[in-house]
Amino acid sequence: MPVSIVIGSQWGDEGKGKIVDLLSPQVDIVARYQGGANAGHTIVWENQEGGDDEFVLHLVPSGIFHERVTCVIGNGVVLDPKAVLDEIEKIKSLGIDVEGRLKISHNAHLIMPYHKAIEAAQEEERAAASDDDAIGTTGRGIGPAYTDKSARTGIRVVDLLEEEVLRQKLRRSLEEKNAILRDIYDVEALDVDRIVDEYVEFDQRIDDYVTDTSKYLCNSLDQDARVLAEGAQGSLLDLDFGSYPYVTSSHPTAGGCCTGLGVPPTEIDRVLGIAKAYCTRVGNGPFPTELETEAGERLRQKGGEFGATTGRPRRCGWLDLVALRYTSMVNGFNELAVTKLDILSGMDPLKVCTQYRYDGTTTRRFPSEAQTLNRVEPIYKTLPGWEQDISDVQHIQDLPSEARDYLAFIEEYLDVDIGLVSNGPRRSQIITDVQHATAA
Ligand code: GDP
Ligand code: IMO
Ligand code: MG
Repeated sequence: MPVSIVIGSQWGDEGKGKIVDLLSPQVDIVARYQGGANAGHTIVWENQEGGDDEFVLHLVPSGIFHERVTCVIGNGVVLDPKAVLDEIEKIKSLGIDVEGRLKISHNAHLIMPYHKAIEAAQEEERAAASDDDAIGTTGRGIGPAYTDKSARTGIRVVDLLEEEVLRQKLRRSLEEKNAILRDIYDVEALDVDRIVDEYVEFDQRIDDYVTDTSKYLCNSLDQDARVLAEGAQGSLLDLDFGSYPYVTSSHPTAGGCCTGLGVPPTEIDRVLGIAKAYCTRVGNGPFPTELETEAGERLRQKGGEFGATTGRPRRCGWLDLVALRYTSMVNGFNELAVTKLDILSGMDPLKVCTQYRYDGTTTRRFPSEAQTLNRVEPIYKTLPGWEQDISDVQHIQDLPSEARDYLAFIEEYLDVDIGLVSNGPRRSQIITDVQHATAA
């Protein structure tokens, strides 16, 4: 198993952090390949007093709590140096050794203060035009940083190494950014020297972690290392395959792994999709199965559906199999992990969307264009729910038959095996003997 990828199959927050943490003991390296501090990956473990401890990772890969694992932030990530340094300090304060275990790509692009300033101004302007025009971004500077990367005006980690080069690049970049901030958005301009001083200090603190991570990964693969690639966000937020423009600016889908890490596709042999047992979305954009009802509120409260990065309430709805079939196609999932099944206890009946009605016809095709997706009407299959609390169940046979049928329905519709079922936030709340039992 050289490279496995863990990918969010919906709109993010599927529980990727928990699953990556859980699989980490089976691998040597965990590597993030895209996104930035817009991600919030939660890991929960039982502490010695019998309570729960929680950590939300934004940039550091979710393998960091396993000391034998090396973590890589790949070239495809946009790195906020302050955010990563703060995160490293927080991890160290738990007694976890990070030095020598975290590698940051020299080619990763940096989030600069003007990225956040421009994003805030753009979002404000879009919201002023109409509430629906705003994307509802996380405000972490992601879009403008990837814009600069594509425009070939970005500043990379490697540029921090020489102060004069950094100063020159920044001066050139800021001339344009300040004109945009001042003249278009009527916002205060930023000072080059202050930014250079701040980023030079970051360089001194980040230097030991920086390396050619593609070379490191390829050499490690040559020596039979096992790599787990950790996607952030979700497939339906992909820049190309999501409902543009209500997307993020990177590629969470499988292809992003190769370009974001510099590993060849021939090394990938497992693509694990993470699917929440229902759907959530943060920010704006089409969401066919959204429940703006008491049932939606119930999912939000019981599921704790509030953003791990921004604290915003997540929009909640029924499981959308049309959308899941599409992301399974685009990513080539050869296995699924279904998370948060415990949250569905007590909801009876359950609904899952199996078709869309659009322009008088029904279809199983997922239209990724936002205009069309906004107009589809979900057609549901109603399935019996179960009352029991399932959060202590450890074996698939001990789940209520209705819960097993729910899983079997998903497997059959998608023609993808479910390999893991998560029934609570803790590491111990996982069912691994799934395959033969859903078939039973
Ligand atoms: P990620 O961004 O995909 O890593 O997911 P988030 O961490 O943003 O959101 C998932 C939330 O659900 C976190 O609060 C997790 O602790 C929690 N969680 C993960 N799996 C389960 C599960 O099976 N059941 C319950 N109840 N909570 C879960
Ligand atoms: P994880 O990795 C859920 C959403 C934002 C917004 C859109 C664009 O925790 O699953 P951006 O700041 O990326 O330009 O915002 O994408 N978004 C996420 N939603 N989980 C995430 O990450 C997200 N990262 C971005 O809410 O709708
Ligand atoms: Mg999250």
